[in-house]
Amino acid sequence: MTALLTRTDRDILHAAGLLREGELVAFGTETVYGLGADAQNPAAVAKIFEAKGRPHFNPLICHYATPEAAFAHVHATPIAEKLADTFWPGPLTLVLPRRVTCPVALLAGAGLDTLAIRIPAHPIAQRLITALGRPIAAPSANRSGRISPTTAAHVLAQLKGRIAAIIDSGPCRVGVESTVLDLSGATPFLLRPGGVSLESLQASIGEIRLGITQGQAEAPRTLRSPGLLVSHYAPILPLRMNATSIAADEAQLAFGTPFKTTARTYNLSESENLNEAAARLFDGLHWLDDQGTASGLRAIAAMPIPRHALGLAINDRLERAAAAR
Ligand code: TXA
Ligand code: MG
Repeated sequence: MTALLTRTDRDILHAAGLLREGELVAFGTETVYGLGADAQNPAAVAKIFEAKGRPHFNPLICHYATPEAAFAHVHATPIAEKLADTFWPGPLTLVLPRRVTCPVALLAGAGLDTLAIRIPAHPIAQRLITALGRPIAAPSANRSGRISPTTAAHVLAQLKGRIAAIIDSGPCRVGVESTVLDLSGATPFLLRPGGVSLESLQASIGEIRLGITQGQAEAPRTLRSPGLLVSHYAPILPLRMNATSIAADEAQLAFGTPFKTTARTYNLSESENLNEAAARLFDGLHWLDDQGTASGLRAIAAMPIPRHALGLAINDRLERAAAAR
């Protein structure tokens, strides 16, 4: 049974108690819902991989309440401290070398000598981490390779019966996952575009190497971040990107003015606002997939979306959703 918890103090304390006992609890963050376990409990962390069907080589992000708590577990650099001052709490994850004293379960980091750390801005996530008094290891709360969840209903549809509880935290404000930046090498390296735009990171720290965007070769990205598989966020229906028209048997993911007004249209943003589109992206994919499969449609056709600001993360997620499986 999966308990549906509310945001009352009593329920948050109950959720922290479940985590302390080694159970899994899904909770809202400003990006997507996370599937949390006590990061310092190896058996609990192992349950995350099992519940998601996630390959063990794919490391997890550790969520902390404060930068001080996070930097006690990794070796921070001046760039890391600057980014922390500017973007934390918020949708930015930093990959840094683990300290030898770091108590986080090795499995959470998939045995790597680096650790991905993030300070979520969402009050529920903050209260849960504080109540536990330890970092929470949490991937997105979806089955491995499927669409990420931005509502409690999305989580239940994929993980009901597999996790102890979920805290209904409302819809996620940002809607795409955190930006993952690797600071363990000589030059900052973008592992995943996300909720903090590349432009704002560049404005803050200057040069950033881009290994994973704009259709570059797959080899470097799998080496640097084993979890960034090409096929991901997969709907059941095939997805076609940069559509220039829509067929009668296709569901439509629109941006701006739709090609056609069909019943199976989900508009990410009528006003072509990329922040709004990011916040609605996964809900749109879930909805079109459900509607499209129920009414026998053949595919989802996605209209073109500009590649700047949050559009980079949106296109990245669509490319993975469209990739051959
Ligand atoms: O917004 C988010 O980041 C959400 C919320 C719940 O915080 N979490 C999330 O986790 O998206 P997940 O597991 O779905 O994606 C984490 C990504 C994976 O691609 C993983 O391979 C990468 O971060 N990652 C984690 N630790 C890493 C490390 N030590 N080195 C390189 N990549 C790492
Ligand atoms: Mg994920």
